[in-house]
Amino acid sequence: MKKTAAAITAVGGYVPEFVLSNKVLETMVDTNDEWITTRTGIKERRILKEENAGTSYMAIKAAEDLLQKRGIDASEIDFVLVATATPDMPVASTAAYVASEIGAVNAFAYDLQAACSSFLYGMSTAASYIESGRYKKVLVIGADKMSSIIDYTDRTTCIIFGDGAGAVLFEPNEEGLGLQDEYLRSDGIGRQFLKIDAGGSILPASEETIKNKQHYVFQDGKSVFKFAVSNMADVSALIMERNNLTKDDVQWLAPHQANKRIIDATANRMGLEAEKVLVNIDRYGNTTSATLPLLLYDYEKQLKKGDNIIFAAFGGGFTWGSIYLKWAYNS
Ligand code: UT7
Repeated sequence: MKKTAAAITAVGGYVPEFVLSNKVLETMVDTNDEWITTRTGIKERRILKEENAGTSYMAIKAAEDLLQKRGIDASEIDFVLVATATPDMPVASTAAYVASEIGAVNAFAYDLQAACSSFLYGMSTAASYIESGRYKKVLVIGADKMSSIIDYTDRTTCIIFGDGAGAVLFEPNEEGLGLQDEYLRSDGIGRQFLKIDAGGSILPASEETIKNKQHYVFQDGKSVFKFAVSNMADVSALIMERNNLTKDDVQWLAPHQANKRIIDATANRMGLEAEKVLVNIDRYGNTTSATLPLLLYDYEKQLKKGDNIIFAAFGGGFTWGSIYLKWAYNS
């Protein structure tokens, strides 16, 4: 009997219309286009400005785009996973709302939070459900409204992040295409370096925490950079080695878009030429859970059936890992 793998069979995406450029940031904090470009590779990012719209607003749009392109009805979907670090609300499941809004009436849904690795881990979760034979159509949406947790007076974080959403559909594949291997890691040592101090169970929100701006993202950028640059490269090299992939066997690297220098270091370690590296950090910044699906969305036309893609991510926690996937269709 042929092994069932989990293949990506459709992609959708959405980014808000409002563009926040480096030039505009220069008027908001003490920074400049040259510093941001050389240190991060970012030129602009998108910000969701619609009133009363949270992460689900973008997740729904990405999912609807996917359904329309794939030409299927939402009622066929078995499971909706929303990978996000910025759910609509701390308790009510964002995924449940998204599933209902898109008409996935036969699906169950939940959120997965692993900071910038949320989508990568979500791919693994989706693949496990498909490989086991339990479900046939799994929708994974990576969406984050980072602007809702960023302090726009803090130049060390406000230049980095942006808002966006991407969605992929996983379905069974018996042709040897789809997810081939994964290597997922975590280390709690990281939580001091990238976090939101208040609003959780240790330090619930209060007037005091608001006054101290503890409801915003704090990042010790230098420390996170050090861990990210070595770990993302390590796992990507490891997954190539253990699948006997040379650099010529790998068509694409789909890396988390946190910093162009981290992306370049990972590609260098893998021996990959720049043309094989999917990049959109210049236009969107770091959209956290949305970076990987938005790469697929932007580059979909260039991906060919059978192409070997290495996904890699690193995020708060720390959480990180790598996934090796064979692309399943030509668009
Ligand atoms: O996606 C989740 C995982 N996150 C990451 O992977 C992010 C990893 N970290 C990074 O990408 C980088 O550390 C940053 C982009 C956040 C910062 O770049 P850096 O090269 O590590 O800069 P730095 O923090 O070491 O700061 C260098 C200098 C400092 O000034 P002094 O102390 O040398 O005088 C900062 O105060 O740059 C200054 N600086 C800025 N200058 C202009 C910090 N932010 C800015 C800014 N504009 N926005």
